Amino acid sequence: MATDNPAKKHSGEHIARNVQETALIAADLLPLMLKSGVVSLEGPLGAGKTHFVKATALAMGITEDVTSPTFTLLQSYGVGGSRMHHSDWYRLESESEVLALGLEDYYGDGMMFIEWGDKFSSILPPGTLRIRIEPHLEDAGEVRVIRWSNH
Ligand SMILES: Nc1ncnc2c1ncn2[C@@H]1O[C@H](COP(=O)(O)OP(=O)(O)OP(=O)(O)O)[C@@H](O)[C@H]1O
Ligand SMILES: [Mg+2]
Repeated sequence: MATDNPAKKHSGEHIARNVQETALIAADLLPLMLKSGVVSLEGPLGAGKTHFVKATALAMGITEDVTSPTFTLLQSYGVGGSRMHHSDWYRLESESEVLALGLEDYYGDGMMFIEWGDKFSSILPPGTLRIRIEPHLEDAGEVRVIRWSNH
C-alpha cells in the first residue's frame, strides 16, 4: 500500500489528461525508474507505452528519435550514463524467444524498457518497476491512468 513517505512507497497512481501530461509523469517518475534500472510498460494496444518511453528518453537527455521496437525487438540509444535499451515482447510467443534476445547482457548498462513485459512476467529481473497505462474507462479521449509498482 502506498504511504506518504516516498522512501517506503511501493506503488502509485497518476492521471494524465493528454499526451503532454503523460510526458510530465514520465519525467516525474525518472528517479524511480533509474533506481529500478528495468521498467516493464504494460497496458493495451495504443495505450501510450511507446510514447511514455519516448518522453523518458527526452528526460534522460537522449536526443535520438526513439521508435517502437515491435519489429526490431531491441533498440539501444544514448551513451555512457544516459544509455537506454528498448525492447518489446508483443510479438514474442514464448519465454525461450525472450531469452534468445540475450537481454541479460544489457541489464545494468543504463536503463532497460520492456513493452508488454507482463506477457512473461516471471522472467522480468528482480526489482523491475512495473508501469501500467490504461485508457480511462469514462473517457474515450486522451485520458490515461498510469499505475506503477515496484514490489
Ligand atoms: N495521455 C496519453 N498518453 C499517451 N499517449 C496518448 C495519450 N493520449 C493519446 N495518446 C495517443 O495514443 C497513442 C499511443 O501510441 P503508442 O504507440 O505510444 O502506444 P503503445 O501502448 O506503445 O501501443 P502498442 O501496444 O501498439 O506498442 C499515440 O498516438 C498518442 O498520441
Ligand atoms: Mg508500443
